[in-house]
Formats: sequence, structure tokens, C-alpha cells
Amino acid sequence: MRLLPVGPPLSERDLPEEPHAVTPRRRFLRRLALLVGASAITDLALPGCARRGRKPRSGVPIALVELPLGKRVVVAMKDLPVEIVRTAAGATARTLVCTHRGCPVIWKEELSAYHCPCHDGRFDADGRPTAGPPNRPLRTLAVTLDGGFAWVEI
Ligand code: FES
Repeated sequence: MRLLPVGPPLSERDLPEEPHAVTPRRRFLRRLALLVGASAITDLALPGCARRGRKPRSGVPIALVELPLGKRVVVAMKDLPVEIVRTAAGATARTLVCTHRGCPVIWKEELSAYHCPCHDGRFDADGRPTAGPPNRPLRTLAVTLDGGFAWVEI
């Protein structure tokens, strides 16, 4: 911004030639605005660029919209049945594979337990063995919620 001299009278010589002349400061601000705008557009168009510096996510992504709160959702991962339950605190996941001899287990709502039809094995709601031959719990999997997905480590 150019300051005008204080005092009488103003002459043509004291007025700026062009009221909105491009000053170095204005040029700098324009370029800064362009850079900020370009950066914002890049982040929107290329989400991977916005993650620069963050550890890349590993695991299998499941969209959170596919996981209603409190509902048991079973998906196939690496040829294994995996149950994911989204909770208020996050999400849990476990393989639905019996730890006795590997048969698929089924959640029985009326028993509040997982049942293995092969040898009548049972597991409680937390996957701990409660009856039959299995003596190890169902395998739990780590889940991280990030970017609208549950990332299941399998
Ligand atoms: S395989 Fe499940 S109880 Fe034997």
C-alpha cells in the first residue's frame, strides 16, 4: 500500500497512477492463495497425498456403512469366515473357525453362543470355549477404524 503525503494540497503527481496496482505484497498474497487452493484441491482429488507422513493402513477394509452398530456381520477374508461387530467403542472381529478341527462355527442367538456342528463344540459370546472338545478360544483379529473403514488385520 502506498501512503499519500499528509498536508495540502494534493497534486496529480501525489496520486498513484493506478489505484489497484499489483504490488510485490499483493503478488505474494495472490501466489500464496493459489498454493493453498492447489493444496486443498490435491487433498480432495488425491486422498493418498493427504496421508503423507502417516503410516499406510494395512488389513482388509470394510466400509463402516456396511457395519450397523451392534450387528454381527460375517464376511469372507482369505477364504475364512470372519465376524465383525461394530460397537460404540470401535469394532471387534474374530474368525468363525473352530479351534478343535477347523469347522466353521455359527452364532446361535437362542443360545447366546457359537456352535460348532462337527463335534458339538460351543463358545461363549466372547469366543471362549464352554463345551465340547475345543479348548482354545476363537481367534480374535485386530480392527482399526479409520477413514470410514474398519481395517481388519488377518
Ligand atoms: S471341529 Fe468344532 S468341535 Fe470339533
